[in-house]
Amino acid sequence: MRIALAFNIKKENESILSDSEDSIKYSSPKTDFRKYLSENLINNYPERLDDTYAEWDSEETITAVKSALEAGGHDVTLVEGDSDAYEKFKMIRPEFVFNVAEGLNGLSRESQIPSMLEMLNIPFTGSDSVTNGICHDKSRCKEILSYYNIPNAKFFITDAIHKTEKDLSFPKFIKPLHEGSSKGIFNSSVVRNCADLRNEILRIKDCYDQPSLVEDFLEGKEFTVAMLGNGDDVKVMPIVEINLDAVPEGFNKIYSYEVKWFFDTRESKLDIFRCPAEIDEKLYNRIELICKAAFKVLRLRDWARIDVRLDSEGNPNIVEINPLPGILPDPADNSCYPKAAREAGMDYDTMINAVLGAALKRNRNGFHK
Ligand SMILES: Nc1ncnc2c1ncn2[C@@H]1O[C@H](COP(=O)(O)OP(=O)(O)OP(=O)(O)O)[C@@H](O)[C@H]1O
Ligand SMILES: [Mg+2]
Repeated sequence: MRIALAFNIKKENESILSDSEDSIKYSSPKTDFRKYLSENLINNYPERLDDTYAEWDSEETITAVKSALEAGGHDVTLVEGDSDAYEKFKMIRPEFVFNVAEGLNGLSRESQIPSMLEMLNIPFTGSDSVTNGICHDKSRCKEILSYYNIPNAKFFITDAIHKTEKDLSFPKFIKPLHEGSSKGIFNSSVVRNCADLRNEILRIKDCYDQPSLVEDFLEGKEFTVAMLGNGDDVKVMPIVEINLDAVPEGFNKIYSYEVKWFFDTRESKLDIFRCPAEIDEKLYNRIELICKAAFKVLRLRDWARIDVRLDSEGNPNIVEINPLPGILPDPADNSCYPKAAREAGMDYDTMINAVLGAALKRNRNGFHK
């Protein structure tokens, strides 16, 4: 089959820190940033960070997806998910598109390639433009979950300091309304008083030019759940537990930007995953159940990764939904979806072709075409 792989690729060797004069340049960002963090106050660095491309894939990932699809017998053309993509799709008219493009601009960035393909009537893997858009706006996603009584932390949205003056219980968790890959989520995102909450609202407004989502802090264990398939065929892969004990001493027990990108490196790997999660059957089943329900009500398609945390009473809550899960190919990197797939007996190539297989089957059946 003639497949186009739609992607956005990280610019290699680019400093993760901004180019402004007073920012620090590092030759080997990850390692040096770690040193920098340990030598500085935990909370005084985020404004130096340029995380514009954090959601994008590495060249290694795109090469691995391409080669997996080729191993499945397909003829693969690469199409970068930029503003020229529409013309390229129109010209090459692939039979199917494998979509991993995260997009760059705007709240709807993960919907842009799906929208182009919908307009051109070219079928593609993964969720449609509407679902991708909804999941990228964490409040819209939570509103739908709440309508269907699927548990998620109580929340409000704000970009105004005065709104934080009203009676609030603490701790709260604060994050940008529409980012992924833990962008904007730092150790300081757990706030214990109004002053800290105000600082975070200002930081998010400053750095991301968007409102904040303020949630009740879910203080319990964390899990992430890889899903594959559609309708009654949807498969929940072995649940990954985020081992919060691996978070360095002195940091809040969250899977923050620091933990994901600076503390957990190939050279110095954190023991951050337990797969399958070491929890009792009852909890395991409850997590599966809410993830299946979320998959259904959000009308997710083919694959997704759903983050879950326990509240103070041990009840699982949906944290957020990733219709385009990260898929780092090297088992030496901690990447949840491939980790769960490996545990389910699928190597990388099998996993990629299984996602394609689910999409092809859905398309044949005319389900949410
Ligand atoms: N309400 C909350 N209570 C406690 N911790 C939270 C809460 N919301 C988010 N977190 C922590 O912050 C992390 C990142 O949050 P979230 O998953 O919403 O961000 P993201 O940028 O979309 O992540 P991803 O990298 O999965 O795309 C979570 O994995 C969790 O550790
Ligand atoms: Mg997440």
